[in-house]
Amino acid sequence: MKKLVILISGRGSNMQVLLEAKLPCNIAAVVSNRADAEGLSIARSHGIPVAVVAHRDYPDRASFDAALARTIDAFDPDIVVLAGFMRILGADFVSRYRGRLVNIHPSLLPSYSGLNTHARALQDGVKIHGCTVHFVTPDLDHGPIIIQAAVPVLYDDSEQTLAARVLQQEHRIYPQAVDWLCNGKIRLDELGKVIFTDRKQTGFALVSPSLP
Ligand code: GRF
Repeated sequence: MKKLVILISGRGSNMQVLLEAKLPCNIAAVVSNRADAEGLSIARSHGIPVAVVAHRDYPDRASFDAALARTIDAFDPDIVVLAGFMRILGADFVSRYRGRLVNIHPSLLPSYSGLNTHARALQDGVKIHGCTVHFVTPDLDHGPIIIQAAVPVLYDDSEQTLAARVLQQEHRIYPQAVDWLCNGKIRLDELGKVIFTDRKQTGFALVSPSLP
């Protein structure tokens, strides 16, 4: 069975759905860069070992990344899952886990990489928004895409209502992507393409606002 380490920085709702999804893997640890991350107590209540590597304790990104990698490697994981981990990771760290490091981002990448995705989507008046699970590469939020979910943006949406609609979908697609990884149903090839061994697809279209 594959071993996973999950990295968080805060609330930990994506981590929680992964812990509760009965995935075919062993979740070896949850690691946070903040000792006050709410997700740490959720992990503890599930009996998962937790560790904190506080970025503030390190003078620069390289030394933080090295300490984080040491902590992760002590659990010897096959897969490292970023679930609301809010630090940018350097190229050395990312290449160390090539093909084994995944992230969830609250937008339909490559649109709205970076922060404040929901506010920016509302500002632009887009009618469809969503979330993306992708392999992590040194190019921030631009790694090869594994799965995406799209949601409509409604006329009276606030940042909060839109974020909630997207989060609901995050909680569906992240366990699915991690399940595929654990079962060896996807991998990253040498050219940086996501290879699916199981190629079931639908031809469903989301139109927003809906057609009469
Ligand atoms: C999620 O929206 C995720 O896409 C983004 O940060 C948020 C983390 O939420 N990377 P949570 O900590 O999983 O509740």
